[in-house]
Amino acid sequence: MTRSHTIRVQLGERSYDVVVGSGVRSQVFSALPSTARRALVITQDGIPFAIADDLKSAGLSVSTLTIGDGEEHKSLSTIEAIMVECANIGLTRNDVIVGVGGGMVTDVAGFAASLWHRGIAAVHVSTTLVGMVDAAIGGKTGVNLSTGKNLVGSFWQPRAVFCDTDALASLSPQEIRCGHGEMAKYHFLTGDNLLALELAERIARCVQIKADIVGADEREGGRRMLLNYGHTLAHALEIATDFSLAHGEAVAIGLVYAAHVAHQLGRIDQHRVDQHRAVVTGEYGLSCALPAGVSHEQLIQLMHGDKKALTGLTFVLDGPRGVEPVTSVDLEAVRRALHSMEVR
Ligand code: GLY
Repeated sequence: MTRSHTIRVQLGERSYDVVVGSGVRSQVFSALPSTARRALVITQDGIPFAIADDLKSAGLSVSTLTIGDGEEHKSLSTIEAIMVECANIGLTRNDVIVGVGGGMVTDVAGFAASLWHRGIAAVHVSTTLVGMVDAAIGGKTGVNLSTGKNLVGSFWQPRAVFCDTDALASLSPQEIRCGHGEMAKYHFLTGDNLLALELAERIARCVQIKADIVGADEREGGRRMLLNYGHTLAHALEIATDFSLAHGEAVAIGLVYAAHVAHQLGRIDQHRVDQHRAVVTGEYGLSCALPAGVSHEQLIQLMHGDKKALTGLTFVLDGPRGVEPVTSVDLEAVRRALHSMEVR
């Protein structure tokens, strides 16, 4: 095994480690509660690791539930199926749910763990770049409704997260792009040149940035909102394109769009907008153009439905004090910014 990186998410007695590196999945057993006799592994077809076999070899009684691929399966009916499986296998409060997969799996597995018997232990093995740098870390769990993404969920911190970089070789180009979209976000939050780092170090640095933010503001009362940079338009785009645009790809577009909104509001100059475009397209190799055929008014309607929209349209925007949440954003500025975007 090559050198691994361990980052601690500091949350008092709920603090936990995120371990990044090649082969770190072999450490999962050591993170389970000592009381666990049974484990329910939640995964999807095509996930490269046989964690269930490792846990069986370690003496646990293990069941595996394979959930569907695609955002339509990130649903309350999937949660119900998991709850029924928990009942069928007699999972107790002493036992554990292990999520093995990308962000969708760990979001669903974490949510299920938060619900079963009012909350049992969860451990995650993250197998995608976007999961490793974002989704698996920080305890946000949940599922979608037809009206919006992640509208039903909970904060439920895992006991540990393993980001095994061996999984990255099997990712599709779209999954890699998604990870890069979230990394570009961290670039704007910190100014770090993440691309100068070797891959495992780069993931570990992203985890550290996120761990620091989550440690300071677990329940998104303030600073954690910054992690939503680029996400207001991104979530709307995902829904408007029926998820043909994946999350991180949509975030890339959302970052450049947020720069246009900030420019329309006089918060940043054109040079800073150009920097956003250069980082997203030039450095991270992502498209920042709106997909053709998506109506601006539909996007605006969807952005109104965003969880963050407490007072009018809400965006995380760059400005003289850096990136910060801005509420009640002027609708005309939002429209003009959409018109400023390239279309492909
Ligand atoms: N993905 C944003 C957050 O975890 O807060």
